[in-house]
Amino acid sequence: MDKKTYYNNQRRLRASSHIRELAGEVILSHKDLIQPLFVDEIIRERTVIPSLNEVYSDTIDTVLEQIEDDLSNGISKFLVFPVPSKKGDKDFDFSFVVSVIKKIKEQFGNSVWIAADACLCAYTTHGHCGVLDAAGSKILNGESVEVLSSYALQMAQAGADCIAPSDMMDGRIGAIRNILNEHGLDEVSIMSYSAKFSSQFYGPFRDACRSSPGKGCTVSDRRSYQISAFNPADAIASALRDIEEGADIVMVKPALPYLDIIQQIKEKVYCPVAAYHVSGEYQGLELLAKAGLLEREKAHLEVWASLKRGGVSIIITYAARHARNWIGKIIY
Ligand code: PBG
Repeated sequence: MDKKTYYNNQRRLRASSHIRELAGEVILSHKDLIQPLFVDEIIRERTVIPSLNEVYSDTIDTVLEQIEDDLSNGISKFLVFPVPSKKGDKDFDFSFVVSVIKKIKEQFGNSVWIAADACLCAYTTHGHCGVLDAAGSKILNGESVEVLSSYALQMAQAGADCIAPSDMMDGRIGAIRNILNEHGLDEVSIMSYSAKFSSQFYGPFRDACRSSPGKGCTVSDRRSYQISAFNPADAIASALRDIEEGADIVMVKPALPYLDIIQQIKEKVYCPVAAYHVSGEYQGLELLAKAGLLEREKAHLEVWASLKRGGVSIIITYAARHARNWIGKIIY
């Protein structure tokens, strides 16, 4: 039987917080959230990231304190971004992040779940997510995948529970799955940045990671490997392809401008879908809140609710560590 298509009194269901609570369908939980962490090799103490309100860069020591604190707020899943001190063109040194992951796992074991971002943009002199050709005019796919696979392997061997490749090269998921399996790391999962769009909303993150692209080369942006906002089919195809290659979780990023993509992917796949509410989206809300133009907590909760309606299981947000507190205070 068809659902009734009109009702004559909708306001009865909006009349009090009791009935709003009963009628609501979306349930938020801090357990669905992942907290990003920046660990910077250069700094000597915990440092404010000016472009990301209340988000800090940690040292290898302070990140342990941060995690301790986050655990006390019910947050146990993390996405780790290393900011290495040395940049190069090839033969990258991944030892810093390897020691970060080892230390975290030594201290916290399986009480934390560590996803390690696998990308080269914080390592390269030019800031691109892959290796450049000698002329500095194009990003080489095969070479990049090779380096990324060995990088992923090192992070998995260090104890990462999940590898999160954000480089957008073709074939990286299959290559990483293979190398992990060959080394007996078949329990390490892959969360692919499958639908990662070329976006204006990554600005604050690039500040934090010193990873803006284009220095000393002729490729000034990431449009030759990240997805165009004008090509939704490419995003859907990427997600389906990544699952076929072995991705366990597929991600859409940024989040809000791509709700339609989240919904379409969710309809087509049986694995969890994640959304990354990225730095620019986060900071936009923070700045509006600072200007007194919205209420910070409610704005973040509203965004998370919209992502849940869109169909995600997992939300990556810089405000994850506040979630339990904020969600506990929701007034419907
Ligand atoms: C690296 C990477 C980026 C983000 C996560 N991994 C930025 C980029 O592509 O420049 C963005 C995250 C954010 O903005 O919060 N490739």
